[in-house]
Amino acid sequence: MTAQVELDPQTLVPRVIGRYTPVFADHAQGIRVWDRDGVEYLDFTSGIAVVNAGHCHPAVVAAIQEQAAKIIHAQQNILLHEPMMRAAVELTATLPSRLNQVFWANSGAEAIEGAIKLAKIATRRPAVIAFRGAFHGRTHGAMSVTSSRAKVRGHYEPLLASIFYAPYPYYFRAPVPGGESVADDFYLAELRGLFDTLVMPDDVAAILVETVAGEGGYLVPSNRWLQALRAICDEHGILLIMDEIQTGVGRTGKMWGFEHFDVVPDIITVAKGIASGLPVSAVVSDKAIMDKWAPGAHGGTYGGNAVGTAAAAATLRVMREEKLPENAAAMGQRLVSGLRKLQSEHPVIGEVRGLGLMVGVEFVTESGDPNPAAVTSVIKRCFEEQVLLISCGTYDQAIRVIPPLVVNEAEIDHFLAVFGRAVSSL
Ligand SMILES: Cc1ncc(COP(=O)(O)O)c(C=O)c1O
Repeated sequence: MTAQVELDPQTLVPRVIGRYTPVFADHAQGIRVWDRDGVEYLDFTSGIAVVNAGHCHPAVVAAIQEQAAKIIHAQQNILLHEPMMRAAVELTATLPSRLNQVFWANSGAEAIEGAIKLAKIATRRPAVIAFRGAFHGRTHGAMSVTSSRAKVRGHYEPLLASIFYAPYPYYFRAPVPGGESVADDFYLAELRGLFDTLVMPDDVAAILVETVAGEGGYLVPSNRWLQALRAICDEHGILLIMDEIQTGVGRTGKMWGFEHFDVVPDIITVAKGIASGLPVSAVVSDKAIMDKWAPGAHGGTYGGNAVGTAAAAATLRVMREEKLPENAAAMGQRLVSGLRKLQSEHPVIGEVRGLGLMVGVEFVTESGDPNPAAVTSVIKRCFEEQVLLISCGTYDQAIRVIPPLVVNEAEIDHFLAVFGRAVSSL
């Protein structure tokens, strides 16, 4: 039996792992991935917004190697260790002073579970308000607040009770004419309407919101809308949880997405980019809120893993020292202006939107409907030129352009040329 047959993905990989590419990776560096035959790809997916500091950043690799040789599993209920503390110091140093204590976990969904549990216990209230089109993860609690696609939650009912949904701003497809401000009036009226029709505000523990909707289509809300959520929370004693799992760690051109909106949440969830690919996530909040969690009321075997948090501390240092959020802002501008030029030449591009290097390109049919066929075709053509891309949106109507934040001007320009050829070929 040859090695190829032994490692046959058809046999070994469950079909639930829907795959964008057949690439069998061998190694990676920066924005580049090489397959087993030495073919080089430019990774404009960052492994779904994870390797923000670049694949295998030398400082992160060194921190992982050094820590792995010292102690790998220093279980947090049994042992204290330096990486977990250092990572908490590095992380909270990037945040407003009221986000000062970190609960470590392992995945985005697990951070969402933790944040919801924390909000419930801190307020002693049962309900959560989430948004249509949101994606927060695949565990039962996280699924219950997710509605980016029916298939994420379909056939898994019943889910958590007392979850109420309001619409998330999608200005390009606003349900009312008149521009962003009129649309915001509509979205906020729908949200406030929940209190008249479905749930008493003093039963609501938290409003849970993605700072920029990720899987739902890379939708950027207005300052006014996010600030109104903050005001509604303050009015009713509700905690504002901002899911920074995809927007965080420099991706949007600032360290955290919420910094763009002049809003400070009560709780944030962090994962993906925090540890350059090791499975690390976190719930961050005020110590006064965290103190409501009695010892043992929440936990986990692997949270605060020594190697994972060493990678997190190193990643956060790299972000700061190499000014990667600033590079994301500059490269994002170059990317968006190139994409908008393409848009002006190709009506199949309906909108280019995003912050920093969290950029979505929505494709439309001649009648303005979502155009997933164009999305699939452009992703395929880019793949033929060794550029990796993935889609987003309920209808797969958008392509997300999310390279590692170490990307440079020449690489952005190369991407724009490849993407332009792919769009022209439609
Ligand atoms: C905004 C957001 N929240 C939560 C999650 C879930 O993270 P994980 O896949 O690590 O569980 C994701 C994953 O894509 C996400 O984008």
